[in-house]
Amino acid sequence: MRIYHFIEYYNIIKPILENKEFLKRKKFMHHENESVYEHSLKVSLLSYKIAKKIGADYKSATIGALLHDFYSKPWQEDVERKVYFFEMHGFTHARDAYKNSKKYFSDLINPRIKDIIVKHMFPLNPTPPKYVESWIVTIADKMVSSTVLLHPTQYPKYLGIKRRKNEK
Ligand SMILES: [Fe+2]
Ligand SMILES: [Fe+2]
Repeated sequence: MRIYHFIEYYNIIKPILENKEFLKRKKFMHHENESVYEHSLKVSLLSYKIAKKIGADYKSATIGALLHDFYSKPWQEDVERKVYFFEMHGFTHARDAYKNSKKYFSDLINPRIKDIIVKHMFPLNPTPPKYVESWIVTIADKMVSSTVLLHPTQYPKYLGIKRRKNEK
């Protein structure tokens, strides 16, 4: 990555990385070896590169990607009993991440960023992305998560349907 691009990328993500609430994602685990913070950074850097390459709105793609999993509480702590399958984390966290993003970063949100966050779980959430930037982020998210996606037996766990063995 060229230094100019790195500076440009960093200036886009800086206001989010300086936010205390966002920094708490260093402690939210996305999966065993990676925090939501690290995961979101990887997705945002990849989204920035793709968007830049194809001439899309790279700023919105970068911000949307960084906030795509900015849901309010770690899914592992979500011990409430879910009555309906569609209330499980895998289905609900995109909406939650949008609400939370609006709460902390209302000045950054635009219609593209909203669409990126709300639709990133496509096709699990069946409404398809509306903008090219949303497609970029939903694909980048799956690419970055590919180690998880390569193990279908782990899906229920990551969708928040099944708890890990060492959890109640
Ligand atoms: Fe997600
Ligand atoms: Fe993600």
